[in-house]
Amino acid sequence: MKEIVLSGIRATGNLHLGNYYGALNKFVKMQEDYDSLFFIADLHALTTHPDPKTLHTNVKNILAEYLAAGVDPEKATIFVQSDVPEISELYLLLNMHVGIGELMRTASFKDKARKQLGIKSDNDENIEKEIIGTDSNKRVNAGLLTYPTLMAVDILIQKAHKVPVGKDQEQHLELTRRFARRFNSYYGVDLFPEPENFNFGGNAVKVPGLDGSGKMGKSEGNCIYLIDEEKVLRKKVMRAVTDEGPQAPNSPISAPIQNLFTLMELTSAPEVVQQFKDAYADCSIRYGDLKKQLAEDILKVTLPIRQRILDIQNDDEYLARVVRQGAERARERAAKTLSEVREIMGIKKFY
Ligand code: TYM
Repeated sequence: MKEIVLSGIRATGNLHLGNYYGALNKFVKMQEDYDSLFFIADLHALTTHPDPKTLHTNVKNILAEYLAAGVDPEKATIFVQSDVPEISELYLLLNMHVGIGELMRTASFKDKARKQLGIKSDNDENIEKEIIGTDSNKRVNAGLLTYPTLMAVDILIQKAHKVPVGKDQEQHLELTRRFARRFNSYYGVDLFPEPENFNFGGNAVKVPGLDGSGKMGKSEGNCIYLIDEEKVLRKKVMRAVTDEGPQAPNSPISAPIQNLFTLMELTSAPEVVQQFKDAYADCSIRYGDLKKQLAEDILKVTLPIRQRILDIQNDDEYLARVVRQGAERARERAAKTLSEVREIMGIKKFY
C-alpha cells in the first residue's frame, strides 16, 4: 500500500514563490508515488476574518493555481476543506484532548494574536495578559487559538504519513504528532500514524522575501506571485534590497544578498549560482546583473503557470468537477476515521 500524503494551503489570496517552493512543487512531484490528497483550507482562512465576498474567489484562485502548477486530479485527490464536514466534527472531539496552554505557546498564535491586539512588544507576558484582558472590543478569536487542532485534524482524519510543508509549519506538525500520540495512548489504540514533513531528503524550505527581511509572506507584503505579470515581476526583482557590495575578497554575505542567492538556488541552474558566488568572492559582482538573471529564471518557472491559471480560472464547470470528485474521495476516508474515533471515545447510537 502506498503511503498517504496530505497538505493544504489557506485560502487567503494568490500563491507566491514561498508557497510554491515550500509546498506546491512538492505536491506535484509526490503525486506520482504517493496516495495524495491536497486541499484548500478555507476554514483556516476564517481565523483572520476574510471578507465574505472574496473568500470564495480566493478558494477558486488557489484551486486554479494548484491545477496550473501541475497537481493532477487523476493522480491526487483535490478538495476544499469545508466540503468535508467530518473535519469539523473531529475538530470538536480532538479539542477535548488539547491543552489551551500548549496552544497559547504556539509561535504562529502569538504572532497573530499580537497583530490582532495591536501589540508591538515581543514580551510574551504582555500578550497573555492582553488576551485574557477584559476589554471586550479587543479579542483574539478562539478559532485562532485552536488553529493547530484543526490542522492536526486535516492530517489525522486522512491518516497521512507525509505532510509536505515549508519550515514555518513545522511547529504545527510537531503538535500534530503530539496529539496523535496522546490520543493513541489515552485510549490504548493505534489509530493515528505520526506524520512528518517531507523534503525529498533535504531540509525544510524557507523562501525569503526581496525586502531584505525574513520570509516571503502575504502579510509581509513582499511576495512574488505565480500570477504576476512579466513586467511586474521584473520590477519587483529589480527593486530587491541589496547592500553596497563586497568591500574585500571573500567577505561574509549580508542577509539581503543571501536572500537573493537563496532564491537563485531555488530557481537557477547550479553553475549560474556558482558564477555569481565566485563574482561576489572576488568583488566583481554587479547586483544589477544578478537581479536580471534571477528575474529571468523566476519567469521561466512562473510564466507557464500564469498562462495555465488564466486558461482555467474561469472554467467553472471543470473546477466544480474536480472538487466534487475530490470531496467524495476525501469524505469517504474522513467518515471512516470519524466513526472509528466516535466508537473509541464511547459515542454510540441508540438506533
Ligand atoms: P499557508 O497557507 O500559510 O502556507 C501554505 C504552504 O506554503 C508554505 N510557505 C512557505 N514555505 C517556504 N517559505 C515561505 N516563505 C513560505 N510561505 C508559505 C507553508 O509552509 C505551507 O506549506 N496551516 C497551513 C495550512 C494547512 C495545512 C493543513 C497544511 C491547514 N491544514 C494540513 C498541511 C496540512 C498554512 O497556513 O499554510
